[in-house]
Amino acid sequence: MNVYKAAISRRTIRKFKQKEIPISTLMKLVNSARMAPSTANLQPLEYIIVKEKPLRAKIFDCVSWAGYIAPEGNPGSGEKPVAYIVIIVDSGVVGLSKFERDVGSSAENIMLSAWEMGIGTCWMGAINREKIAKVLKIPASYHVDTVIALGYKNEKPRAVPLKKDCKYWKGRDGELRVPKKSLKRIVHKNKF
Ligand SMILES: Cc1cc2nc3c(=O)[nH]c(=O)nc-3n(C[C@H](O)[C@H](O)[C@H](O)COP(=O)(O)O)c2cc1C
Repeated sequence: MNVYKAAISRRTIRKFKQKEIPISTLMKLVNSARMAPSTANLQPLEYIIVKEKPLRAKIFDCVSWAGYIAPEGNPGSGEKPVAYIVIIVDSGVVGLSKFERDVGSSAENIMLSAWEMGIGTCWMGAINREKIAKVLKIPASYHVDTVIALGYKNEKPRAVPLKKDCKYWKGRDGELRVPKKSLKRIVHKNKF
């Protein structure tokens, strides 16, 4: 799969097969994040790979799924993520500013690389950061920014043209429809 195809076809996945992702694969995903663009090349981000079952269960309790359709978008008991990558920011490197774009570029590298490997991801921003820091023993000098949930895909959400509402919904087949703005609507050629 080329990068363009991955960018176009990737959708957020919230239902996962219960097949483990090898640690070598998760390391590869973090490696793709390591090489992402970074503001002033400061590279303040670090990553915690969570793969152990008891810890996984604890992180699951710290995240919220698919706000627009909650609780319908929650993974069922046999569909939960089999790993998480937690993106943390070393405040000693950047203070608490100038890191958000770094998180965006590294998270996207992880999500696209995963997609190419058949692994689905969900970027989780609605998280209990305090509890995650406690569970994972993250030092106070680090900011917990983002959790990426991972697992082999067990659903087939698809993009549909956005008419009025940006809210995703479930179709009659139980699959998620994700409205996206048309190219024409967002592109300005030469001048606004
Ligand atoms: C910064 C950010 C935070 C997000 N937080 C959550 C979240 O807490 N829970 C969730 O289920 N999805 C979350 N998402 C996923 C979005 O809901 C999803 O990207 C959006 O609906 C578009 O779907 P797509 O990724 O399939 O294109 C988040 C996405 C971003 C970029």
